[in-house]
Amino acid sequence: MNFGKMPIANGFLSKEQFSDEYYFDLLPAFCESCCLFQIINQPDPEKMFHHHYAFFSRSSKKMIEHFQKYSEWILNNYIDNSDPFVIELGSNDGIMLENFSIKSINHLGIEPSANVANVAREHGVNTLTEFFDKSILDNILNEYGYADVITAANVMCHIPDLNSVAENINKILKPDGVLIFEDPYLGSMIEKTSFDQIYDEHVYIFSAISVENIFSPHGFELINIIEQNTHGGSMRYVLARKGQRKIHDVVNNQIDYEKRLGLDKPSTYNNFRLNCEKNRNDLVLLLKKIKSEGLSIAGYAATSKSTTVLNYCGIGADLIEYISDTTPIKQGKYSPGVHIPIKSHDYFLENKPDYAILFAWNHMNEIMLNEVEYTKSGGKWILFVPSVMVE
Ligand code: SAH
Ligand code: TMP
Repeated sequence: MNFGKMPIANGFLSKEQFSDEYYFDLLPAFCESCCLFQIINQPDPEKMFHHHYAFFSRSSKKMIEHFQKYSEWILNNYIDNSDPFVIELGSNDGIMLENFSIKSINHLGIEPSANVANVAREHGVNTLTEFFDKSILDNILNEYGYADVITAANVMCHIPDLNSVAENINKILKPDGVLIFEDPYLGSMIEKTSFDQIYDEHVYIFSAISVENIFSPHGFELINIIEQNTHGGSMRYVLARKGQRKIHDVVNNQIDYEKRLGLDKPSTYNNFRLNCEKNRNDLVLLLKKIKSEGLSIAGYAATSKSTTVLNYCGIGADLIEYISDTTPIKQGKYSPGVHIPIKSHDYFLENKPDYAILFAWNHMNEIMLNEVEYTKSGGKWILFVPSVMVE
């Protein structure tokens, strides 16, 4: 597939930066041999993850709750020793590890984006401002020892070289340790036509089939998987070294389900492409119709996903006046590529549009509760996943 020229999804910028904005070709593809769905070109990680990274995990209350439960679940199911050590890759602002830190459990976050890593430290989370690569393994072993659990959320799919991730994990995980990660799920993306999951940071959209194919040559097997309703449909994968732990039935059931859904067949992705094109055309037609009636449209939440929607569909400030977002670092800037102004949530309340297009559709329940007033006063919502509709 070719989604065209794309900017950095979280690259919110000032007017002065418009002229040297970075673009790359967003080319999603499916590998018939390992069944990975992936993008072919990824910008250098340093262009995306740095000292002014714009995504702060704590911006959603629901996600704070999610990570409390995730960490409890790890403790209850996968930690059987009295002095465990837990590593998290891509620990961001400490949303997950804080729950271990509070319990005085030995932990380490590995987080290359310095600004979010600093917030984690303010919350008492031990954090190494580094990418997870082999150069830091000796440091970890010398200072902390081998890990009982290596965990990650919405990070594994960000790391281009999965073979080196598996090799590095092999070097610092105890023999009976587990690797637990969750990421947006390919099955959900195909079922919902949620094409906005595809952007620079998401090099891969995983399925159980592809995760097994990637980690198996490194001595791991999938022992458990649990569906998650976060980020529009995610999957949690638990891997252990072969033969070390019981494999839950759900693993094979899910792989069978994925085969029934056709996640291992190229034709599925051809259909997906056609569905994406339909959504794009329907959305552009709807926005143009609303504008032609003299009504106003604003975006709700400047998500990284919205960068794909806006640039793939060619929707700019002529159709969407502004996007409101609660993240201070995004406010006062412009959206990547199409340069729609980003405003605060207060601005949204003071300048209510006739229509709000919900870019954070994955946080819909939380947002609908917060915006009862807007909806009651006649404000309309535009949704585009799984298909274009007005509510
Ligand atoms: N785990 C958090 C953050 C997800 S955003 C959550 O689920 O909300 C992805 C995070 O991974 C960013 O903070 C980014 O800086 C970090 N990251 C990107 N590449 C990484 C790598 N190679 N190693 C470790 N962390 C990485
Ligand atoms: P995400 O979809 O990648 O989690 O990004 C969520 C973005 O949405 C983040 O920039 C914060 C923003 N947001 C709001 O503006 N209002 C809200 O109520 C919520 C939940 C998120």
